[in-house]
Amino acid sequence: MKNKTKNFFQLKNKIFYILGGSGLIGKELVEDLLILGAKVISLDVIKPNSRLCNSKNFKFIHFDCENIENEKFNIIDIFDKNGFPYSLVNCSYPRDNKWSENNFSNIEYSSLKKNIELNLLSYSWIAKETANFMYEKKIKGNILLLGSIYGFLGQDLNLYENTQMRENMTYSIIKGGIINLVKQMSAYYGKFNIRVNCLSPGGLYGHNAGVSNNQTRSFIKRYEKKTPLSRLGYPSEISKSIIFLCSPKSSYITGSNLIVDGGISII
Ligand SMILES: NC(=O)c1ccc[n+]([C@@H]2O[C@H](COP(=O)([O-])OP(=O)(O)OC[C@H]3O[C@@H](n4cnc5c(N)ncnc54)[C@H](O)[C@@H]3O)[C@@H](O)[C@H]2O)c1
Repeated sequence: MKNKTKNFFQLKNKIFYILGGSGLIGKELVEDLLILGAKVISLDVIKPNSRLCNSKNFKFIHFDCENIENEKFNIIDIFDKNGFPYSLVNCSYPRDNKWSENNFSNIEYSSLKKNIELNLLSYSWIAKETANFMYEKKIKGNILLLGSIYGFLGQDLNLYENTQMRENMTYSIIKGGIINLVKQMSAYYGKFNIRVNCLSPGGLYGHNAGVSNNQTRSFIKRYEKKTPLSRLGYPSEISKSIIFLCSPKSSYITGSNLIVDGGISII
C-alpha cells in the first residue's frame, strides 16, 4: 500500500481495542489496522496466529466476556495500563455450547439466558464502561459494535432448506438490542464527542456459528441467488467498512447502523 493511501484514514498511532480480534472478522480487521499504522490491542480468549504477534504495534490480551462482572474493572485497568482507546470495536461472538439449538423447537430457557448474558450484556456493559472512560479522560473517541441484518429482519428460512441450519431466537434478540443500544448511547454521548455506531453484515463466506460443519453448497447457492450482488461477503469487506466508521473520515456519523450485505436486506 502506498504511503498516501495508508494515511488516508488518519489512523497512525491511534489505539484500537478489538474485542474478538482472533475471529473471522476480527483477524482481518487487526491486519488492516496494522497496515494503516494503528496500534492494536486484541482482547480475546484465543491467541491470534503468529504473523500478527510479530508486529511491534500489536498486543494480545486474554479477555473473557464470560467474566464480565470482573472484567468490568479489568477493561478500565487494561486501558490504564496499555493506553487510552481511540476506538473500541466489539466483534466477539461469545456463545454457549447449545447455541445451535437456540431455535424455537429446541431452545432451553437456561441457554437463552446464558447467551443473552454472555453476548448482549457483555457487549452493552463493555460499551458503556468504555464510553464513560472516554468521557472521564476527555477522549474524542468512538465505539463500534457488530450487529447483523438479523437484528432488524427475520431470517428467511427458505435459505436453510435441506441443511442443518435453523432460525436462532436468541440471535435476533441480541442483535436487535445492540442496534438500539447504539442509538441510545449515541444520543447520550454525542455531546461529549464520543461516537457510537453499529455495523450489520449480511452472510459472509466462512463458518456456521456454533456448529462444526461449514456452509453447504446448496445454502451458498440459494443465498447468492437471493442477493442483489449475487454473492456472500468477505471478512475484508466488513473490515474496510468498520475502519471507515471508526476513522476521522466519518466524524459526523453517530448512532448509525451501516448495513454491509450485498443488498439482500432491501428486497
Ligand atoms: N460471520 C458472519 O457471517 C457474520 C454475519 C453477521 C454478523 N456477524 C457478527 O460479527 C461478529 C463477529 O463474527 P465472526 O464471524 O468474526 O465470529 P467468530 O466466531 O469468527 O469470532 C468471534 C471471536 O470472538 C471470540 N470470543 C468468543 N467467546 C469469547 C469470550 N467469551 N470472550 C472474548 N472473546 C470471545 C472468539 O474467540 C473469536 O475470536 C459477531 O458479532 C457476529 O454476530 C458475523
